[in-house]
Amino acid sequence: MKALILVGGFGTRLRPLTLSVPKPLVDFANKPMILHQIEALKAVGVTEVVLAINYQPEVKFSGPLWSTGTGTRYGTRYGTFSLFGKKHLFLQVMLNFLKEFETKLGIKITCSQETDPLGTAGPLALARDKLIDDSGEPFFVLNSDVISEYPFKEIIEFHKSHGGEASIMVTKVDEPSKYGVVVTEESTGQVEKFVEKPKIFVGNKINAGIYLLDPSVLDRIQLRPTSIEKEVFPKIAAEKKLYAMVLPGFWMDIGQPRDYITGLRLYLDSLRKKSSSKLAVGAHIVGNVLVDETSKIGEACLIGPDVAIGPGCVVESGVRLSRCTIMRGVRVKKHACISSSIIGWHSTVGQWARVENMTILGEDVHVCDEIYSNGGVVLPHKEIKSSILKPEIVM
Ligand code: GDD
Ligand code: MG
Repeated sequence: MKALILVGGFGTRLRPLTLSVPKPLVDFANKPMILHQIEALKAVGVTEVVLAINYQPEVKFSGPLWSTGTGTRYGTRYGTFSLFGKKHLFLQVMLNFLKEFETKLGIKITCSQETDPLGTAGPLALARDKLIDDSGEPFFVLNSDVISEYPFKEIIEFHKSHGGEASIMVTKVDEPSKYGVVVTEESTGQVEKFVEKPKIFVGNKINAGIYLLDPSVLDRIQLRPTSIEKEVFPKIAAEKKLYAMVLPGFWMDIGQPRDYITGLRLYLDSLRKKSSSKLAVGAHIVGNVLVDETSKIGEACLIGPDVAIGPGCVVESGVRLSRCTIMRGVRVKKHACISSSIIGWHSTVGQWARVENMTILGEDVHVCDEIYSNGGVVLPHKEIKSSILKPEIVM
């Protein structure tokens, strides 16, 4: 089976992290977001993943393409870039990443690059030859920024059972207006209506961004900017050939910081139920905490709940961490306290510093001792010498 992952846009809502790596490569629970999807696809027998990319070639980045890191671990060799620096391409960063994981995971990963953004359906037409083979099997399409237990087996079964042309996964949310809302016939799952970002209340079941499509769907899509949500799904629904199943387990679009932090909580809850041995244990751990085995935690720390600590981190003694992500190579100095925040790669947080309320530190940011950050969003390579008292962007 084949799969296509939609990897468009600049990920502006996840800045400053996306100033250092393309959004799909931003770490989530200690590995690049997109790797969660690729691993789950591999597990159900997908042999080739096509990444549909629309990064603009003129975007430049600086820093080592093959950064030094902790040896051969993932994530240490796909390099970094910044919008201000040397001439290297986002695409190059993605390609380096792909090369590494093709071999590691034993799955073919290719890129299909648009010169102009083709929306959420156009990229399928562009990658048509990669998606179709003699088997006539359906293929997966995923939005790159959704995290879940990826119940791909279940959607394959569902697709076989209804005989329609396309299957989509749906989930219930409290605020449906920022998503695609799906109204189904309760007993069969047949989609009666698909309304993208409705202005008035249509229902609370939304498109989860996970599809299984018959090759015939490609005959409906032309090679031009097209929205699958606005132009393709409503037509298939009108012909009664679109079916939706409710996604079992948790779901989150982690394309913005607040949802990213909530997503980590849901992910760790699910990990607790499925393979709790991956979670940290000890007197200093509260709730669900993921710690890479190469990281060092000092004496008398209190860590959790809902914390991910990536590879090569040093957390010194007496540190308090809750509801936060500490990315690869970070040092948190003595008695610092971090909550509801994301600390980007290779940053340091000084002694007695207090970092909270959706503070997002970009790559290689240095927060001096005793600083307070209340929701600071800090661009890469900055030094923070005075406190950030209210949420603001530090350039
Ligand atoms: N290759 C390519 N080219 N990819 C694109 C383009 C493009 O021009 N535009 C968007 N994408 C990718 C994004 O990277 C993302 O993976 C996916 O398509 C969806 O785009 P978003 O910008 O994240 O859309 P959204 O979050 O507002 O809404 C979508 O996701 C919701 C679930 O999170 C829709 O599919 C909604 O219906 C859905 O409910
Ligand atoms: Mg999204």
